[in-house]
Amino acid sequence: MEVCRALEQGDKEEERILSDISSSLKLFERKRSNLIPLLQMIQKRHGYIPPMGMVLLAQHLDLSPSHVYGVATFYNQFRFNPPGKHPIKVCLGTACHVKGGEIILENFERKLGIKAGETTRDREFSLDRVACVGCCALAPVAIVNDKVEGHMTPSKVEGIILSLEIEKEKKKREADKDDTE
Ligand code: FES
Repeated sequence: MEVCRALEQGDKEEERILSDISSSLKLFERKRSNLIPLLQMIQKRHGYIPPMGMVLLAQHLDLSPSHVYGVATFYNQFRFNPPGKHPIKVCLGTACHVKGGEIILENFERKLGIKAGETTRDREFSLDRVACVGCCALAPVAIVNDKVEGHMTPSKVEGIILSLEIEKEKKKREADKDDTE
C-alpha cells in the first residue's frame, strides 16, 4: 500500500519534472553542442534525468533519443533514477577501492535489493558510486545523507541501514498517532 502511494506520488512528481524540463529547454538554443550542458542542467535541477526528459531533449536538439541516451550513459555523472530520500554514495576512488570499496558497495546493493545508480521502489534509498570525495585517510568511505561515514565495514553497512529503517518506522508511528488524535 505504502509502495503504491509512493509510486503514485512518483508519477505526479515525474509529470511536474517533465513540464519543468519542457519549459527550461525553451530557454536554450537548439544547438547540438548544448547536449551535455543541457543534460547537466536537467540533472542539477532535478537530481536525475528521467527517460522522457531525454526524449524531450532529443526533440529540442533534433537528435535521436538513442543518441542522447548513448551520450548520457557514457558519463558517470548522470543518474537516471530519482534520488531517494536517503541518498547513499559509495566512494570507489583509488584509496577506497584498494581498501575494499567494492565490497562495501556490494553489501549496500544486497541489503537494499538495488544496484548502483538505482532507487528503491519506495524511494527511500538511492545508491551511487562516486569518485574520491577527499577523505582518503578514512577509506573506505560512504556518504549517507550527505554525512561522511569512514572506515566502512559490512557490519557498519547493516548498522546504517538498520538505523535509517528504525528512524523511518518511528516517523511512521508518530504520523499514525497524529492521525488518530
Ligand atoms: S578515494 Fe575514497 S575518499 Fe579518496
